[in-house]
Amino acid sequence: MAESTSTPVSESALQTQEPRKSIPIKAWYYNPSDAPPSEPHQYSPNRDVSTDHLQKLGVLTWTQIETDQFENNRFLNKIKTVRGYNYEEVLTVAPEALPNFEENTKKFFMEHLHDHEEIRFILDGVGYEDVRDYDGQWIRIEIKKGDLIVLPPGMYHRFTLDKNQYLKALLLYQGTPTRIQFEKNPETDIMEVRLDYVQSVLELEKHSAPEVQDKVLAATTKAMGAITV
Ligand SMILES: [Fe+2]
Repeated sequence: MAESTSTPVSESALQTQEPRKSIPIKAWYYNPSDAPPSEPHQYSPNRDVSTDHLQKLGVLTWTQIETDQFENNRFLNKIKTVRGYNYEEVLTVAPEALPNFEENTKKFFMEHLHDHEEIRFILDGVGYEDVRDYDGQWIRIEIKKGDLIVLPPGMYHRFTLDKNQYLKALLLYQGTPTRIQFEKNPETDIMEVRLDYVQSVLELEKHSAPEVQDKVLAATTKAMGAITV
């Protein structure tokens, strides 16, 4: 099993159990080269994507949440309460831990959407969530120990491990968990949840008024701001 590459949590973070919000999650435009999916796929120079941009797409992120004894982490528990995450399970994605590893990881990397939020709190290891930008380009988001990411319903995305082939995550759900992924096809393009996402997020980009463009950003900022302890 690979060792975590994440940095140690500071003394103050341990004391307060609050994430240091000033450090954004890492994201960049995906360079579609022939390299294996587990490579970073960055352009040279790298083309960073800001947290604001991710938020405009409806993606919520937090970083540097303490993972030790996460059951008692006040910040994490507040997220669960405020957002109604009332079911959870731990999943380890690694060759020796996940049954049918090859088949399952291939499936995770197929472009798909869900009819619910996808919520992952990373307990150890590193992986990549790729999400579609307004124009269809892939944005790669690095998710590592202490990161929490929420993808909105109806957003096309895919997942892969990084080259260390190890990620342990807490999967959170609102209500009864469903692990169904709808792989992209003409029918998923017209699913109600997809049309809702297109209309409420992607189509806003076509409007020139800044107040309209920033509607999703304001909503996601509010959602993230609600999680304080
Ligand atoms: Fe997914």
